[in-house]
Amino acid sequence: MNYLSPSILSADFWKLGEDIKAVEGAGVPWLHVDVMDGLFVPSISYGMPVLKAVRPHTDMFLDVHLMIEKPERYVEEFAAFGADLVNFHLEATEDVKGCIDKIRATGKKVGITIKPATPAEAVDPYLELVDMVLVMTVEPGFGGQKLIPECLDKVAVIRKMITDRGLTTDLEVDGGIHLDNVALALDAGANVIVAGSAVFKDDIAANAKAFLAKMQ
Ligand code: DX5
Ligand code: ZN
Repeated sequence: MNYLSPSILSADFWKLGEDIKAVEGAGVPWLHVDVMDGLFVPSISYGMPVLKAVRPHTDMFLDVHLMIEKPERYVEEFAAFGADLVNFHLEATEDVKGCIDKIRATGKKVGITIKPATPAEAVDPYLELVDMVLVMTVEPGFGGQKLIPECLDKVAVIRKMITDRGLTTDLEVDGGIHLDNVALALDAGANVIVAGSAVFKDDIAANAKAFLAKMQ
């Protein structure tokens, strides 16, 4: 099953609710919430208050992408504020297993994320323990960047690991995905597609529907 997860990082925060309703109305199942701390990545975005404000107004699956140092400090709070899945970066913590366990204990789904320079093999020891692997296809930190094609090779490697072990782990890609390259990501083995700047521009509902049509 494929899922589109539009990143609200590229939404218009003046009318965030309206933008979210546009994608929800188009039939989009997931929403991607990028949290940046200015340390793990050079930029700062938003955090718990935004998640808390959005949660009561939508049934969409809230896919939270933590780009923060020592995520184990905050994963429980993000779960409590309404995340359905909490993704954290392997590069951001010295205690990956502990962080997985903390998220698991909240009853929410667990995702692990790797940056472009981190090899596919880094997820190997954790594959049985998580619900999703997120492969960054740009350097995390900003929307609107160009996809790094080599990252899709890692997607193919991880999809093979998942299949070979008989797992049902979701595999997400994030960064630089547009209507003209989404097929490449799906072909590589991704089944969850993040798109920010390609969705939250002009006619948002039409953009979302165009993605959904390509993802069936
Ligand atoms: C980047 C974020 C992405 C970003 C994607 O650090 O994790 O989710 O919003 O934006 P686009 O689709 O514009 O590359
Ligand atoms: Zn993201």
